[in-house]
Amino acid sequence: MSTTMSVIRVYRYGGPEELKLEQQPRPEPQEGEVLLRVQAAGVNPLEWKIRQGLAKDFMPVTFPYTPGDDVAGIIEGLGPGVTSFEVGQAVLGRGNGTYAEYITAPAEAFVLKPAALSFAEAASIPVGVTTAWRGLFDEGELEAGQRVLIQGAAGGVGLFAVQLAKWKGAYVIGTASTANLEFVRSLGADEVVDYTTTPVESVVKDVDLVLEGVGERTMRSSLATLKPGGKLSSLAALPPLEQAQARGIQAKMIAAHPSRSILQAAVQLIEEWRLKVSVGKTFPLAEARQAHEYSQRGHGRGRVVLLV
Ligand SMILES: NC(=O)c1ccc[n+]([C@@H]2O[C@H](COP(=O)([O-])OP(=O)(O)OC[C@H]3O[C@@H](n4cnc5c(N)ncnc54)[C@H](OP(=O)(O)O)[C@@H]3O)[C@@H](O)[C@H]2O)c1
Repeated sequence: MSTTMSVIRVYRYGGPEELKLEQQPRPEPQEGEVLLRVQAAGVNPLEWKIRQGLAKDFMPVTFPYTPGDDVAGIIEGLGPGVTSFEVGQAVLGRGNGTYAEYITAPAEAFVLKPAALSFAEAASIPVGVTTAWRGLFDEGELEAGQRVLIQGAAGGVGLFAVQLAKWKGAYVIGTASTANLEFVRSLGADEVVDYTTTPVESVVKDVDLVLEGVGERTMRSSLATLKPGGKLSSLAALPPLEQAQARGIQAKMIAAHPSRSILQAAVQLIEEWRLKVSVGKTFPLAEARQAHEYSQRGHGRGRVVLLV
């Protein structure tokens, strides 16, 4: 068996061409860790923002580094003390540097993959579902009967947010471009606004919570749709706190730290057929550069996934 593996490494901040495919030694699992043979890795927008140096003030990296957080694969080895998994089991979860053929990570980062899902589908879940859950429930305190606006409803986070908010019993309004309206409706949204033809704030008012998944471009319209006392969970840009406070709005930036309990709850909903997953586009690991170029366009539906 080969002791080396293919891995993407980045040596300096810059464009997609900084993603280099290399051969490196395979890692060894340490105490409490598993060795995972990666089958698929999700591509999140944060990864191209980090690569470009846009996040260096709050998420500095040590070069060279391997990008990647979302992962699905097969347990290939167990470090000392790991009893929760067996070699050969298929899992999904979050790791550090998942654009690689093998990774090591703490065993508690993973949950068993639902048998009905492909590895690509499984790798599309962790960051998206965790972020949606934290923004809607942990920070947004969404309750049944409330009205929620999901900005960016067709994206890798938004598609879970629409479904989780419906599952909670909320009235759900999503925004998307014309090509994705039907997709967002199919996720269960009560209303879908085509942001390319309609200013969102002209048709949406008095919402209790906005999950702001686009950024500065849509922040103003997000604030305008909220009722006094409403909440704004922002994913991609710092909300204008003073402006929000002046209208009695609680605005927060969400940090979607990994959570095994959220992942476990999401997997259960998937197994009960109450939560659907959606892979947007797939690329082989060697085309991580093209995957970043695609993700950087900021449009499309579902998560971009690397097949390893
Ligand atoms: N804070 C955190 O912990 C955290 C965690 C995860 C993600 N994020 C951030 O959250 C954002 C969304 O992440 P993601 O993974 O869902 O991204 P994504 O999969 O790339 O999806 C982006 C979505 O935004 C939509 N969109 C673009 N412009 C829009 C507009 N003006 N109005 C409404 N929708 C618009 C696109 O749909 P169309 O094709 O229809 O335009 C696309 O579906 C990213 O900026 C990401 O970095 C933050």
